[in-house]
Amino acid sequence: MEAKEHVQTGTRSTPNDALTVLEAQHRAVEKLFKAFERAADDDLEAKAALAQRTCEELSIHTILEEELLYPAAQEALPESGRMDVEEAYIEHFLVKTLVAKLETMKAGEKGFDATFKVLSELVGHHVEEEEEDLFAQLCKSKCDLRALGDRITKRAAELQSKLDAVGSRLVGDRTDML
Ligand SMILES: [Fe+2]
Ligand SMILES: [Fe+2]
Repeated sequence: MEAKEHVQTGTRSTPNDALTVLEAQHRAVEKLFKAFERAADDDLEAKAALAQRTCEELSIHTILEEELLYPAAQEALPESGRMDVEEAYIEHFLVKTLVAKLETMKAGEKGFDATFKVLSELVGHHVEEEEEDLFAQLCKSKCDLRALGDRITKRAAELQSKLDAVGSRLVGDRTDML
């Protein structure tokens, strides 16, 4: 998926607006999915590390959107947009379910690559809808994307430092600790 240019309207005029920050996270996760695809079949160490990092990035990203972006979108958008937000919450539920499954598995184990592939496809679909529908509608709304971007950036730093504090491990659902 390629990065998309949004029309610069409303409050979306700085590099740190909410949508630019979240889109950068989308691109980072896409890179991880691609790197996993390129990893040699028997390079279990690389696969494990890439899958772990992907799960961490997705955990932080889904929290940021559910805590900050989606509530703001529910407020700022008309009924049709609120429907898109409801769908996004359900897709996040599926993403988190697959992340939790992956975190109980080991690279090389039967089903590990398949689970990661389905996660990649699901996230690809979700990101596409998010950027083309939800983000596009938010660009045209009265939502203060700069202020929201500041809150998202601050919360992202908090979540990352909590994750750093517990260290990297594959077992368990770390989102409970965040
Ligand atoms: Fe999302
Ligand atoms: Fe997203």
